[in-house]
Amino acid sequence: MARRLAAGARLVLASHNPGKLREIEALLRPHAIAVQSAAAHGLPEPAETAPDFLGNARIKALAATAAGLPALADDSGFCVAALGGAPGVLSARWAGPDKNFSHAIARVERQLGAALDRHAWFVCVLCLAWPDGHTESFMGRVDGAVVFPPRGTRGFGYDPIFMPDGCTQTFGEMDPAAKHAVSHRARAFAQLIAACFG
Ligand code: IMP
Repeated sequence: MARRLAAGARLVLASHNPGKLREIEALLRPHAIAVQSAAAHGLPEPAETAPDFLGNARIKALAATAAGLPALADDSGFCVAALGGAPGVLSARWAGPDKNFSHAIARVERQLGAALDRHAWFVCVLCLAWPDGHTESFMGRVDGAVVFPPRGTRGFGYDPIFMPDGCTQTFGEMDPAAKHAVSHRARAFAQLIAACFG
């Protein structure tokens, strides 16, 4: 049995990424949880030193429990089959210190070259951590294709070059509700909510 969060609990969101914060707040909205940002608590961003999404989600969530409240972290990334799963855990780092995703997207296109295999996927690991060190983690994934040229100005990160299986729009073109219907983050959230909320 997973540890549950009491109704009306306060929760720190251990992310400084505005695109993720927007989506996580929307996904939490129906669940009567008072959400506070890590930035509002003056919490620094810890170094993501683990080799995988699960390890980095735990590092971020546990670091944010320094505020004395349960904390929720998201570690996620974009994986391209023909690149051996890259950028993967390095998805944010491919955008460089100025977080310029047009550079990261251009690097994916350059490294992909003429490769015929366009299979790609997003992964999201959510970790809910308590100040006593207990954690619960959940993984969501969405498969699809990497497409060029980039399409759409909605979303964030790699959204303009990812088209989920069975869809005709990229995440960059979809309205937020359509993205939430299939996204890696929404799939991880559904498990988190079933196991730990209410
Ligand atoms: P991190 O979890 O802070 O290491 O950053 C994950 C990175 O993966 C983000 O900066 C985005 O570049 C990318 N990413 C994760 N989820 C999404 C998504 O839903 N859309 C687009 N890019 C994403």
